[in-house]
Amino acid sequence: MVSKKLLLLPGDGIGPEAMAEVRKIIAYMNAELESGFELDEGLVGGSAYDAHGLAISEADMAKALASDAVLFGAVGGPKWDSVPYDLRPEAGLLRLRKDMELFANLRPAICYPALADSSSLKKEIVEGLDILIVRELTGGVYFGEPKEIRDLGNGQKRGIDTQVYDTYEIERISGVAFELARTRGNKVTSMEKRNVMKSGVLWNEVVTATHKAKYADVTLEHMLADAGGMQLVRWPKQFDVIVTDNLFGDMLSDIAAMLTGSLGMLPSASLGAPDARTGSRKALYEPVHGSAPDIAGTGAANPIAMIASFAMCLRYSFNMVVEADRLEAAIAGVLDDGIRTADIMSEGKTRVGTTEMGDAILAKFKALA
Ligand code: NAI
Ligand code: MG
Repeated sequence: MVSKKLLLLPGDGIGPEAMAEVRKIIAYMNAELESGFELDEGLVGGSAYDAHGLAISEADMAKALASDAVLFGAVGGPKWDSVPYDLRPEAGLLRLRKDMELFANLRPAICYPALADSSSLKKEIVEGLDILIVRELTGGVYFGEPKEIRDLGNGQKRGIDTQVYDTYEIERISGVAFELARTRGNKVTSMEKRNVMKSGVLWNEVVTATHKAKYADVTLEHMLADAGGMQLVRWPKQFDVIVTDNLFGDMLSDIAAMLTGSLGMLPSASLGAPDARTGSRKALYEPVHGSAPDIAGTGAANPIAMIASFAMCLRYSFNMVVEADRLEAAIAGVLDDGIRTADIMSEGKTRVGTTEMGDAILAKFKALA
């Protein structure tokens, strides 16, 4: 049987509350569907800092590197505001991303039919929306050198960030996008600014060459990133998979996310390169939202982003496409039934807390089996 080592890192705030709902689903899958997940657990963020003074321990880092997938809750909160910069909760997540070399960040923007009314855009623009943004996560302007504030000695300072991309980085991120497109709508839109950026010229060339060499069956389109931002709010359904760099991807994925409503709904995946021997990728799945200290402990958190992140894990790490589809259908079904946590509540719907939402999704998931 394929290895299914799954490490849970619930983190802080609503992280553990949302993770508890995923744990129920995994327990059911192991008991009734014989899914065979080997669960392990670790500390990250503020909870790790409180336990041993680090944002993540070496032992938990080693577990993450040895796992087939990591499920991550959320980290951070005012309690750790005065912690030294390198030990702050967010450092745990950054370390995981760096050491696991998670260069591909996948952010779906899906509009559940039952929530099409609550978008800030018109219903017909977002209803049925299903796009996937693939953002390069380990290169570009956030990491390029030089990166400094230089004192010019004349009373002026200069802030410098450097956008750097090498061929292999563009090849591997576009490869992920093309492969994902084949499992979906078979179209990739690559976004850069080749009109004003040299790294954009190279990006465009390498994506085009990668397409020609290995993925000519997929439709490829190029768009300037600013025009892409406009098109995302004008007619988002024209897109299937969007591939873009770290900076543009940060902004475009947030824009795309908000087409579809609450932070509490949004999952993500971060993938590494396939292992040369086994072909399996390192991977970390997490909700887009943070630890929500304002509602932590009240039982009001929406667990859907966390559960949908687990659905992505089933799909991308374990090739359990049937179960992933079914879990996503269970989420949609519960929303169709009018069940809502506070963040997505609207008139005439039934308001529930975190555990009731998790229970309702599990019940629907079982019913669809
Ligand atoms: P946040 O995402 O935690 O919360 C923003 C707002 O959305 C809050 O009003 C919150 O109650 C609401 N919200 C978020 N998730 C929700 C859910 N599942 N259900 C219902 N409502 C939800 O972002 P914020 O407030 O900027 O940051 C809080 C802490 O989280 C900070 O320490 C920040 O550094 C950290 N953070 C951690 C992230 C991570 O672990 N990946 C990502 C973003 C922030
Ligand atoms: Mg962002």
